[in-house]
Amino acid sequence: MRVAMLLRLILGVLACLSVSLVNAEDPYKYYTWTVTYGTIAPLGVPQQAILINGQFPGPILDVVTNDNIILNLINKLDQPFLLTWNGIKQRKNSWQDGVLGTNCPIPPNSNYTYKFQAKDQIGTYTYFPSTQLHKAAGGYGGLNVYERPQIPIPFPNPAGDFTLLVGDWYKTNHKTLQHYLDLGRPLPFPDGLLINGQAHASFSGDQGKTYMFRISNMGLSTSINFRIQGHTIMLVEVEGSHTIQNIYDSLDVHVGQSVAVLVTLNQAPKDYYIVASTRFTRTVLTATAVLHYTNSQTPVSGPVPPGPTYQIHWSMQQARTFRWNLTASAARPNPQGSYHYGKITTSRTIFLANSAPLVNGKQRYAINRVSYINSDTPLKLADYFNIPGVFSLNSIQTAPGGGPAYLATAVMPAFLHEFIEVVFQNNENTIQSWHLDGYDFWVVGYGRGQWTPASRKHYNLVDALTRHTAQVYPYSWTTILISLDNQGMWNLRSAIWARQYLGQEFYLRVWSPDKTPANEYDIPPNALLCGRARGLHA
Ligand SMILES: *[C@@H]1O[C@H](CO)[C@@H](O)[C@H](O)[C@H]1NC(C)=O
Ligand SMILES: *[C@@H]1O[C@H](CO)[C@@H](O)[C@H](O)[C@H]1NC(C)=O
Repeated sequence: MRVAMLLRLILGVLACLSVSLVNAEDPYKYYTWTVTYGTIAPLGVPQQAILINGQFPGPILDVVTNDNIILNLINKLDQPFLLTWNGIKQRKNSWQDGVLGTNCPIPPNSNYTYKFQAKDQIGTYTYFPSTQLHKAAGGYGGLNVYERPQIPIPFPNPAGDFTLLVGDWYKTNHKTLQHYLDLGRPLPFPDGLLINGQAHASFSGDQGKTYMFRISNMGLSTSINFRIQGHTIMLVEVEGSHTIQNIYDSLDVHVGQSVAVLVTLNQAPKDYYIVASTRFTRTVLTATAVLHYTNSQTPVSGPVPPGPTYQIHWSMQQARTFRWNLTASAARPNPQGSYHYGKITTSRTIFLANSAPLVNGKQRYAINRVSYINSDTPLKLADYFNIPGVFSLNSIQTAPGGGPAYLATAVMPAFLHEFIEVVFQNNENTIQSWHLDGYDFWVVGYGRGQWTPASRKHYNLVDALTRHTAQVYPYSWTTILISLDNQGMWNLRSAIWARQYLGQEFYLRVWSPDKTPANEYDIPPNALLCGRARGLHA
């Protein structure tokens, strides 16, 4: 008996050792990125844009699962700046999340070196500026996490891999757009839609071969539909989940979301339109790119294939067909193991209702009556240094309630290892897109009207996929389940950027009383210190 216990102990210690050895051996990748202004003219008019290493979109960050990324970001703008890594879970490491609640912004002519790991992740992600309205000027790019050699992916290796960053775009300078919002005016309707920062991108491949297209919606506010003339598309991955490989004529991608599809070039050799068009908008903006067969002599022709425009039901139905392939491998073998989300009892339900109130006579956006305002000190630093007065843990309720909206630096407390149900209730007539940093979550249900406990009968508790950004249709609800297994200060925000900028966000503080690196890493030695944390020692 005792020998057996000792043996188990020794084996346990050995297992821990080998785990930490493997971590130490995970490769390091080093980058230096310089952020500058530059002039581009994607819609025919020269305008100021935010470039990374001279490029818009910025460089694609191609990494492998578990790579350690050491990225020195040098800010040459005239404003403080941060990038956030959309969908990178920053396990135990909200220090590197790159949002104003966790990081001091990098001052002009200064730099910060991000250090993070693409731990146990695989798939299609992005990065973008989280500060001010910088996203309206670019500064974004693709972030693709490839499988390690020993991990099989549930589809044949494609002959090529294209990253398509699709987004609404303004000819107006980002500072002017920000000024509109500061005055309490809405953003105007966008001037166009771009694919990879261009109006005429082109992708070429060989007839008969199959290519991956990774499509992300990088826009400020508009959902898109994506399709390719004469071709069907097979969905294979959504923000890190390998899906049931359904075939579609077109796919909706909401702001902040990413999908990966396979396309076989099985048509006659000519060029075909790749199309993205706006969803749920009165005026439909369309962007086209070209799919060029290498043996084609014939330019694109014929009508641009039409897509859905306002069909909400269509979109919701499609969203319900996005399901996890339970037999497919992921970044780690057997991602769910014996642990199945549908069988776990949730510890509580949090209801989050968005609204568009006037506060002090100005347009704001709110969650459960609270419109978020940034503090001068990142919440993560205030927490670490015990600086009082930066945030309070009862500043936002877990259900909407009545009464006027107010401004606050809202933080919702939660315990590490809670398993929670979050119901997003949208009583507005516009589509919402919600993003949570630090996590992916199961999207178990979409429905029209008001959520009620009876809505639970329609949840997918078998093969829902996990993702980091979920849409909520107009006058509808969406439910997600989250396993709060990542300690830290995590931003829950509207991915619709004017809404985020004007307060539709808060932080979820996932906390445990045990201060141990097994739960959370210590503050990085190079952490920038600002506000009331300035001059303190990390
Ligand atoms: C800024 O860059 C230098 C290297 O050029 C690096 O040593 C330093 O740690 C960086 N600063 C921060 C705050 O990361
Ligand atoms: C799920 O993944 C498995 C394993 O790679 C694959 O063989 C199968 O075709 C996939 N099933 C569906 C329905 O996509």
